[in-house]
Amino acid sequence: NLIGFDLPLTVNISEMVRYHTGIFGFTGCGKSNLCSFLIRRALEKIEGISIVIFDVAGEYLIHLLDLEPRLFSTEDFGGNVDRVMDSQAMPETLEQMIDRDVIMKRIERLIDMGRIQRLSLSPPLKQIPLNMGFLLDLFGEIARGRRRGAVQAAIALNKINRLLVRKGYDDGTSLDEVRKDMEARVELEEILEEFLSSVHSMSGMVKDVQAVMGILEEGLDKGEYEGGVEAIRNAEWLAEKVAVGEYRGVNIVYLPDPKDARHIVSRFIEQLLWLKKTKGVGRTVLTVLDEAQEFIPDRTKKEDFTEQSNIAVEALLRQGRKYRANCWICSQRVAHLNVNALQQLHSYFVSVLPRFYDRMVIADAFSLSYDLLDRTTELDIGEWLFVSYKATKQRNVPAFIRTPNNEEIMAKRLQA
Ligand SMILES: Nc1ncnc2c1ncn2[C@@H]1O[C@H](COP(=O)(O)OP(=O)(O)OP(=O)(O)O)[C@@H](O)[C@H]1O
Ligand SMILES: [Mg+2]
Repeated sequence: NLIGFDLPLTVNISEMVRYHTGIFGFTGCGKSNLCSFLIRRALEKIEGISIVIFDVAGEYLIHLLDLEPRLFSTEDFGGNVDRVMDSQAMPETLEQMIDRDVIMKRIERLIDMGRIQRLSLSPPLKQIPLNMGFLLDLFGEIARGRRRGAVQAAIALNKINRLLVRKGYDDGTSLDEVRKDMEARVELEEILEEFLSSVHSMSGMVKDVQAVMGILEEGLDKGEYEGGVEAIRNAEWLAEKVAVGEYRGVNIVYLPDPKDARHIVSRFIEQLLWLKKTKGVGRTVLTVLDEAQEFIPDRTKKEDFTEQSNIAVEALLRQGRKYRANCWICSQRVAHLNVNALQQLHSYFVSVLPRFYDRMVIADAFSLSYDLLDRTTELDIGEWLFVSYKATKQRNVPAFIRTPNNEEIMAKRLQA
């Protein structure tokens, strides 16, 4: 509702998703509450959407509990309801509205449904393809090493290259394919044997070449080299599940350690954009970053992953729209946010920002007057200055609004 007019403000939620949205205000002003409410609306309006909320403070499981969210975490809850409860923030105001037991039961049900899962920090298992490219690399390394065997390796490399050209192979041709062509196989074996007989006991290298010969002779042990490997449940796995797999609806990623959170967010976004580029645009995937100051601070370092998360989030904000990969960010500390990222947001809600400098950053980033921003200091909890270039009829006209209380909606739905 518009404050002072008792009129509803009509907002196009699809546009709020498409053009990225920001929610800013000091701690306790109701950012997570509003964000949860908007998530509900996005789910209702956008068919097949996947929403992924990165939550460092444990606020969203409870806020969205009635929607049966999936919860992923680096924490191991061991299927224990109490441990899940202890990790999540339960607003006091909510405790007056709803019995704790009702919440416990719901979480228990999520556990039973297998919707609460551990997320690993392990990098993806990359399978190294055993192909001609691999062999070229192997000999290339020895040749460039300029140590023993370098000249012989260079000779072998040249011969392998000629074989490739003659046969119409390339570096992607598998050793198995070469194995099936008798002529090529014999020729390759001769090249490898000649190399082996000309070098002495450089054990690692000799063993490698012997292993390649073994493959040419007996083929690959399928189980060992191809397929059959269960993906580790990590950031890349999650990206695949939400972009092209079956994980639609609400997915909460609870990452209490900020460094882990940045690590996982950057890998998730990178994989998400890659999948969108290579496997088709597909469904809308909305990434929500609460406590965004953790992910896009203006000062960055490699060691704590702020550099990686900044690059990833900026890429998502810049390129995502083309691929239906969108982003909402919430933050309480605007002054030290990456301004390039801020400028990609087309809709934003601003609540009380007590520090002048924070208000100045918002005013500058979005070309609003300082006077207008000063009026936000009088706003109550759940009241916002809302500006949107895309999602309202009056484009870019600032409006002061009051938003519904997500806790009430949630409590009502749980009790129904
Ligand atoms: N629209 C609203 N109507 C009424 N009360 C609200 C509304 N939004 C939030 N509140 C109340 O304000 C309190 C803080 O809300 P919330 O946790 O969403 O704030 P926050 O900005 O996310 O805070 P933090 O920065 O600490 O995460 C809650 O206890 C909630 O009951
Ligand atoms: Mg919050």
